[in-house]
Amino acid sequence: MAPTNTAEVIPFNRPGLENDELDLLADAIKSGVSSAKGPYSKLASQILIDATDAAEVLLTTSCTAALEMSAMLLDLKPGDNVIVPSFTFVTTALAFQREGATLRFADIERTQLGIDPASVESLIDDRTRAVVPVHYAGIAADMHGLSSVLSDRPDIDIIEDNAHGLFGTYEDKPLGSFGRFSTLSFHETKNFVCGEGGALVINRPEDVTRAHILYDKGTNRREFLLGQVDKYSWVDKGSSFGLSDLLAAYLYGQLRNRESILSKRRAVFDRYQKALTPLADELDFTLPVISADRGQAYHMFYVLLSDKARRDAVLAKLSEGGVRATFHYVPLHSAAGSQFTDMPTECPVTDEISGRLIRLPFFNDLGESDAQRVIEAFVHAAEATL
Ligand SMILES: Cc1ncc(COP(=O)(O)O)c(C=O)c1O
Repeated sequence: MAPTNTAEVIPFNRPGLENDELDLLADAIKSGVSSAKGPYSKLASQILIDATDAAEVLLTTSCTAALEMSAMLLDLKPGDNVIVPSFTFVTTALAFQREGATLRFADIERTQLGIDPASVESLIDDRTRAVVPVHYAGIAADMHGLSSVLSDRPDIDIIEDNAHGLFGTYEDKPLGSFGRFSTLSFHETKNFVCGEGGALVINRPEDVTRAHILYDKGTNRREFLLGQVDKYSWVDKGSSFGLSDLLAAYLYGQLRNRESILSKRRAVFDRYQKALTPLADELDFTLPVISADRGQAYHMFYVLLSDKARRDAVLAKLSEGGVRATFHYVPLHSAAGSQFTDMPTECPVTDEISGRLIRLPFFNDLGESDAQRVIEAFVHAAEATL
């Protein structure tokens, strides 16, 4: 039955407000320091450094900007290639294409929906410079499998696109701490938000100085501020990547309430999982698998339906009932990505999963009664489409 007014619609996402973000934002505005690397940037970055044990964290205007910075730091040459999953957001790939790399699209494996190490192995050659795993839904990709495929190629860097996985773990090690670089997103759809924002996590101390130069529009401004040079000037490539301290204040308000945010998200996940697990066989759908060696970041709750026609029908029925569920990732290898590869690939698992996946509404303040409504609407739609 269609909703009678918009108040009945359960949105897919609603960015959360914990308690003190507005006060922090007002303080940042009044402080007179609102450009990048202000005091709130330092506070927010420090939380991220502590969480990932990084050498440095630079807050950026988006995860896309952080991916672009990591691509610039690789100094890619014409003919170099970078391996990305086909099942990901456009900019996981675009950031590297923009810096001149040729792209190679790997398939995903079926359990975690992360990049498939066997597919990566089939794409590597002597011009491969980096592989970019995504920890889809905040659940770790197969980092063991990936490192064993790369064991005799220390020249190939791992760059983790950790847009979904902040505070997730793999074998008790934080996501974002495996690669030479990792990238975070604080877009309004993510677990921790500031409107638009991101971060570059730098795991090797030897990358820190140059990363600051690229971040400071190609200048050695940081060395000048540290008193290491008597004036600063243009020394390298770079751009304007920094997040305003106003947004960093908002972000800091979120990050310092991380326990509360994660526990709210865990409650939503557990509610869906508890209600839907007993029905999965009977109604022919599959739920996320979180193996014992992975601590998930509670970024989303997805369900895999038996096929695309049924998935589309379930999405339509949910929408009619005022529940805004959505699909995920139009495969990149067959979209514009096909223009940017020198080795066209088939990604059958990506194609299949992309057709079967539904993400249910998922946000911090999704209360018990709304979650129950989503569950009932989903069960009804799944029964009606069997
Ligand atoms: C895996 C992944 N990487 C990167 C991004 C881009 O993040 P941002 O919007 O912060 O640039 C997204 C956005 O949803 C994403 O899902």
